Amino acid sequence: MTTATTSDSAAVERHDTDEILRLEGIHKSFGAVRVLQGIDMVLHRGEVLGLVGDNGAGKSTLVKILTGFQRADQGRIFLEGEQVRFSSVDDARAHGIETVYQDLALIPQLSIFHNLFLNRELTVGGRLGLLNNKRMRELARQYLTDMGVDIPTIEAPAQSLSGGQRQAIAVARASRREDTKILLLDEPLAAMGAREAALIIDLIKDLSRNRGVSIIVVDHNYTHLFEFCDRVTVIQQGVMTLDQRTADTSLDELMDYMVSQFRQQVATGRAERGH
Ligand SMILES: Nc1ncnc2c1ncn2[C@@H]1O[C@H](COP(=O)(O)OP(=O)(O)O)[C@@H](O)[C@H]1O
Ligand SMILES: [Mg+2]
Repeated sequence: MTTATTSDSAAVERHDTDEILRLEGIHKSFGAVRVLQGIDMVLHRGEVLGLVGDNGAGKSTLVKILTGFQRADQGRIFLEGEQVRFSSVDDARAHGIETVYQDLALIPQLSIFHNLFLNRELTVGGRLGLLNNKRMRELARQYLTDMGVDIPTIEAPAQSLSGGQRQAIAVARASRREDTKILLLDEPLAAMGAREAALIIDLIKDLSRNRGVSIIVVDHNYTHLFEFCDRVTVIQQGVMTLDQRTADTSLDELMDYMVSQFRQQVATGRAERGH
């Protein structure tokens, strides 16, 4: 494809090799609530895409559909050009899509190192053998040191960690896999202090630049977005209203856009209420 056309039909036909994920006309309702109303989206290899929008806009729902946690009512998902339908989170994971849920990230009572290897435990003597705790401890220590996560002991239960540390471990776990193609992070920095946030940001940069992992991050902090995203997408009331490369816009421009959208919504609300 050499032309720079952006017409809808051209966009639909264009399945270049750089493209890892494509969504077409994704709809999702919960009862009478129409949460997603036709989302079209493309994600490229090694690209970091920032997803923003008001509370209730449908961002988490979109992430959950991509991770196989929920099913779209309508629309198609293509992974590396092939249409896919994820039957479960495990199914999406088997396709190389990893995620970190804000609440369900770790098992509180389980040790930090066991959490790091959750569902992918190393064993001695095949898959059903005894747990290789020694090796998991070594690797966990090394991995966290490499990442710069400062944790006194990996034997402690995950519940002894701060929210930010827990999130850092969950992201580390999701990114450990060699075959992760896409990593989805729903507000990974929300509970974090500056130091922990910097860790995650470094990890995101490393994964995308050095390992070619494509990443979608939901984040309300626009300054962050301009620090590590290649592209930013705005979802409002289930519709994508802006999709721009961060290099082609600026923090001020995005803020102005969001403020103008907010004003418009307030004005529409007033008109609808008749005052
Ligand atoms: N499982 C569900 N059942 C019913 N309504 C839901 C469910 N999940 C989300 N919603 C509703 O869908 C809308 C979008 O939610 P969500 O995707 O979480 O938005 P965001 O992440 O952008 O804040 C909200 O109005 C929310 O109440
Ligand atoms: Mg959300």
